[in-house]
Amino acid sequence: MRKKIVAGNWKMNNNFNETESLIKDLIKFSFPDDVDVMISPAFPFLKSSIDFLSNHKIEVISQNVHNKENGAYTGEVSVEMLRSIGIKKTLIGHSERRTYFNENDSILSEKIKLASQNGMEIVFCFGEQLDDRKNRNHFDKVKSQLSNTILKLDKNYWDKVILAYEPVWAIGTGENASPDQVQEMHNFIRNCIDKNYGKNISETTSILYGGSVKPSNASDIFSKDDVDGGLIGGASLNADDFHKIVISNSSL
Ligand code: PGA
Repeated sequence: MRKKIVAGNWKMNNNFNETESLIKDLIKFSFPDDVDVMISPAFPFLKSSIDFLSNHKIEVISQNVHNKENGAYTGEVSVEMLRSIGIKKTLIGHSERRTYFNENDSILSEKIKLASQNGMEIVFCFGEQLDDRKNRNHFDKVKSQLSNTILKLDKNYWDKVILAYEPVWAIGTGENASPDQVQEMHNFIRNCIDKNYGKNISETTSILYGGSVKPSNASDIFSKDDVDGGLIGGASLNADDFHKIVISNSSL
């Protein structure tokens, strides 16, 4: 059985008070047992968010982590720092990191290796640009994004991997990929995992979709066979919308 997951990517939004108040709004709701729920506040508020949610099923995860272990990397945050405050999962490879911070496959591979060797679970993000899709190059693009990075990870670490397919043209644009487009790509991704690691791993890896998921489209996307949940940006900043999206992924 694959885990159903809905994770909120808060990006660079919310100061301390806003972070606390959004968490307070979220915990007014009851969340279904069959969906793992995650939120990712900004670095300065991770520890206070963890403390605030200590008796709650919502897990606090990180949006990013540095690719080196420690040392003279001014302004960066290490895997070990995050582990020391109780963070167990981090996003790696979000398209905004790739675009604005020049994170390439080699940097992402270092992050993947360091995180997994230090017991950190990974939500690995990837997805094609609009031009790739227009030129019908989207499958090749996704395959190469995976082959150069996460598909190099040793089989033994794959129970700590969650994938998030996020077509760049759908992120923050209001234009989501259609449920059929999402299913087609998720099935392709699962086949790539199968070819590298076999059925056992491909059938148990959760693959999330991200890109303009909202309460109005979440059920249709999540109902597809190979879609195990979502990585939610804009709509995760509203407690009511985020809760509705989580409910959409529940079978209870
Ligand atoms: P969006 O962002 O839901 O606002 O499109 C998704 C993401 O960036 O993970």
